[in-house]
Amino acid sequence: MIIQKSKGKTIATEVPCGVEFKMIGKTMFGLEEILADELRACGAKDIELLTRAVSFVGDMRVLYRANYTCRTALAILKPFAEFEANDDQELYDNVYKIKWEKMLDVDGTFMIDSTTSGEVFTHSYYAALKTKDAICDRMRRMFNRRPSIDTENADFKINLHIVDNHVTLLLNSSGESLHKRGYRQGVGVAPINEVLAAGMIKLAGWKCDCNFYDPMCGSGTLLIEAAMMANNIPAQYYRHENFAFKRWGEFNIAEWKSVKEQEDRKIGSGDFDCEIWGNDIDMGVLKQAEQNLQYTKLHKDVMLYHGSFEDQEPPEGRTLIVTNPPYGERIKVEDLNNLYTKLGDTFKNLYGERCEVWLITSDFEAMKHIGLHPSKKIQLYNGALDCRLLKFELYSGSKKTKMED
Ligand SMILES: C[S@@+](CC[C@H](N)C(=O)[O-])C[C@H]1O[C@@H](n2cnc3c(N)ncnc32)[C@H](O)[C@@H]1O
Repeated sequence: MIIQKSKGKTIATEVPCGVEFKMIGKTMFGLEEILADELRACGAKDIELLTRAVSFVGDMRVLYRANYTCRTALAILKPFAEFEANDDQELYDNVYKIKWEKMLDVDGTFMIDSTTSGEVFTHSYYAALKTKDAICDRMRRMFNRRPSIDTENADFKINLHIVDNHVTLLLNSSGESLHKRGYRQGVGVAPINEVLAAGMIKLAGWKCDCNFYDPMCGSGTLLIEAAMMANNIPAQYYRHENFAFKRWGEFNIAEWKSVKEQEDRKIGSGDFDCEIWGNDIDMGVLKQAEQNLQYTKLHKDVMLYHGSFEDQEPPEGRTLIVTNPPYGERIKVEDLNNLYTKLGDTFKNLYGERCEVWLITSDFEAMKHIGLHPSKKIQLYNGALDCRLLKFELYSGSKKTKMED
């Protein structure tokens, strides 16, 4: 183990650059395969799909690249301890044995995120509390004081993962969740999570080879994610290099800079020659979309229109439409059903066969009012909401869609 001094903090590191180790990429339900593809493109090996996560092997360059470029990762975690525990005391004792004094700064901050499954540990909060006590007790024994807890912006984010009696401790190399891209200037009424937005576009199979349209764009998340893809802008380009791994002793600034420069050189290198535009009925959220676009300097690539979707010029040319209509938390049921009917009518009557529509919703009742059969249904979650991403293939003439499944 190599111990390095970093900004006055003593932090342990076992991984010089070039040495490979196992990592976990966290994502949302339904996006595991998409994340696996993104990790493969970062040079990851031994990729395995898990639930809401992907395990893989790589070196520190892979860790840096995965953090910087993967659009569907929420966090990249690095396991550092594994053991078995059959009760609280065994959990405490095993955590206590870890040389935390070599990892944590006694004057710094940490937090624990925990997930438990199985019958041994049934309360993840309690398991996290035991773990925190063991860490603090050891640090207090060593230094007569202990690091503080910070649940917002801790120096060290530790993940505690327990399945039955198998305990894994992982360091979160990302820090703040990677869905926080840094481009949001204002927040719309119901902005979609950036990771989910990127995942939907990738599930729709967009290769940046046709137009992209969101008829209910709100603050513009889907449009910005699409424009970033079209321009090869890394997922975290606007995050101002805010990553937890930069506070680790093993942080190799030269390797990080070289990875970042390699990725930044690709910006604008694609041959995207199509149009991206959005529309919304609410001027307030459109202003937020405009602010976000100005901030990202993507305003020249994305057009915004104001009005109800059925009053807009229908798309011309081959167009992928990806959208998330209102879900109904703030809208009366009959109004929502009418809105979905109007959506289906607009797809059928105005959009031609060169359009493909992908729509996410958690309102399974309103969904029926679209009056079209989806050719694909993919289960996703928007926060805790069980959703379906529906694909509609449009056929002019018949004004119907065929059913695949
Ligand atoms: C769930 S929000 C979309 C959020 C958006 N994806 C974002 O990330 O900010 C649904 C949007 O549909 C818009 N909307 C509702 N009815 C509409 C209509 N008839 N025509 C166009 N937009 C409409 C709302 O104003 C709202 O911004």
